Amino acid sequence: MTPLILTDATEAAAAVADRIVSLVQSKPDAVLGLATGATMEPVYAAVIAAHRAGRVSFSRVSSFNLDEYVALPTEHPGSYRSTMNRLLFEHIDIDPARTHVPDGMANDTDAAAEAYERQILQAGGIDLQLLGIGRNGHIGFNEPGSRLDSRTRRVELHAETLTANRAFFEDGGVPQQAITMGIATILSARSIIVLATGAAKKAAINQALAGFFTPACPASALVGHPDVTWIVDPAAAPDAEAA
Ligand code: F6R
Repeated sequence: MTPLILTDATEAAAAVADRIVSLVQSKPDAVLGLATGATMEPVYAAVIAAHRAGRVSFSRVSSFNLDEYVALPTEHPGSYRSTMNRLLFEHIDIDPARTHVPDGMANDTDAAAEAYERQILQAGGIDLQLLGIGRNGHIGFNEPGSRLDSRTRRVELHAETLTANRAFFEDGGVPQQAITMGIATILSARSIIVLATGAAKKAAINQALAGFFTPACPASALVGHPDVTWIVDPAAAPDAEAA
C-alpha cells in the first residue's frame, strides 16, 4: 500500500481526475461513487475541464455520493446535494436523474438508507469509489468505532468532524447527523481511490497505511480491498516506515 506522492495538491487532484476520465472513456456507463469536501473541489474542476475540452461525456454515467446531512434542506448551500450540483453536475452532461445522494430529508432515514443500498445494487455496483479522509481517519461519515460490516445508515458526527465542516456553514450551524454509506458498502466498490492533501491529513494517512484494520481509523479498513490507489501530496505523505 505505497501511495503515489505527487508534487502538490493540484497535481494530485489532476491525477484523480485523469483516472475518472479514463474509466468513463473506457466504460461510458460507469457507476461512480463520489465524495464531497474541500479536497475534491480541484478534482471536480479538472473533470469539468476535461469535459469542456471534449475528452469525455458523462451522458450514460450514474453516480452515488457517499453521504448527506440529516434534516438539512436539499436547497441549503451546505447540503451535499447542492454542493455536488454546484461543483460538478451542473457543468457536465450527466443525467440529473442518474445522480444519487442519500436522502437526508426522509422521514424514515432507515428506510432511505436501505433504499440507497438497493439502488446501488440495481445500478450494478460502484465501479470506482472516490474517497477523501477525515483528520480522524473517517471515510464517508464512518467515524472512528464504525464496524467493518456497516452499511448505509444514520450516524452521529464526531466533534472534530463538526469543527472541520463548520467552515461550510456561514451561520456555524453544522448538522450533527448524516446518512453515510457504510464501510462494507465502500468495500463493495470494484476499485477505490483515496485522495489526501495537506499536513492535517498526515496522521490519519499514517494510521490508515499501517497495514492492519483498527476501528480507531476507519480508513484502515481499506487494507482489506484488492484495488485501492492512495494519492497524496508531500504534506500528507506517510512517514517512510508506514508506507
Ligand atoms: C465527504 C466525506 C468525508 C470527506 C472528509 C475530508 O463526502 O465523505 O469523508 O471526504 O471529511 O473532507 P475534506 O476534503 O473537506 O478535508
